[in-house]
Amino acid sequence: MFAYTRFFISFSKTYFFIVLFQQQHIVITGAASGIGKALVKELAQYHCHVLAIDKDEQGLKLLMQEMASSKTQVQILTLDLTNADQIQALVPMALEKLGRIDLFFANAGIALYGSFSSQDFKARQSQMMVNLVAPLEGLYQLLQVANGHPFSYVITASAMAKTGMPNYAMYAATKAALDRFADCFRFEHHPACHLMLVYPIATKTDFFNGQDLSKIPWPTQSPQKVAQSILKGVKQKKTSVYPSLLFRCMISLQLINQWLMYPYQVWNKPHQ
Ligand SMILES: NC(=O)c1ccc[n+]([C@@H]2O[C@H](COP(=O)([O-])OP(=O)(O)OC[C@H]3O[C@@H](n4cnc5c(N)ncnc54)[C@H](OP(=O)(O)O)[C@@H]3O)[C@@H](O)[C@H]2O)c1
Repeated sequence: MFAYTRFFISFSKTYFFIVLFQQQHIVITGAASGIGKALVKELAQYHCHVLAIDKDEQGLKLLMQEMASSKTQVQILTLDLTNADQIQALVPMALEKLGRIDLFFANAGIALYGSFSSQDFKARQSQMMVNLVAPLEGLYQLLQVANGHPFSYVITASAMAKTGMPNYAMYAATKAALDRFADCFRFEHHPACHLMLVYPIATKTDFFNGQDLSKIPWPTQSPQKVAQSILKGVKQKKTSVYPSLLFRCMISLQLINQWLMYPYQVWNKPHQ
């Protein structure tokens, strides 16, 4: 009886997962490598439409070849999200390709390691544009055109949105800004929009290319593990996803403090 119940629960979960992503129109930025690519691969089992966006054209073409025999229909779009005009074109071009957007993964990001004073204006600006401006602008544009159509918007933030690490000041600033944005946005009235932020710890991707590997913060996880946690979070309509349980435990006091502030935030919420 117990085994039967477990089989039924696991079958229902799998069925719900399949139904959820089936025929969905999905945008993923930073899809040519790392977590973005892992997301595309995890979605390969569903009959959905994916628009993979990245600045790495070769990486996108390779991804398309790799996905040729999958159930997912993949289209690609090369955009440089450090460029304000290309950020403005993000949602209009995605809509032109997909017709509608049900799920948007604002995942592209860059981190430049080094002291704050060693990063020139271009280095600082590029991190702000890709990590902060592009995800927020994408959400803004989608809200303008959604017209009541429900959608999920998932931003890959970082563990550094919650806790700083030496030599990542600029990067951590952009990710922490996303965290505070989401904290405020959730008190606004956007019934069609499900916003979810993801807080991965160090993940074994190209992200750390060119850096001294001994400087990668411990512990680490695989991009597949992060992608699976993200899709599970979308399914459960979570607002925050911590792919590492250990990290979540490490910041538990901070999370409790956040919950303690919740009544104060609600108290200040304007009446509709
Ligand atoms: N890996 C980690 O430890 C870690 C931890 C926490 C959070 N994250 C976040 O996870 C997200 C994905 O990172 P990842 O680890 O998967 O890194 P990744 O392997 O470097 O993938 C990021 C992708 O974004 C693309 N990209 C970079 N700049 C872009 C731009 N200007 N316009 C369009 N695309 C651009 C990159 O293209 P190129 O290859 O051409 O640069 C790359 O394909 C990022 O937001 C990152 O901040 C990563």
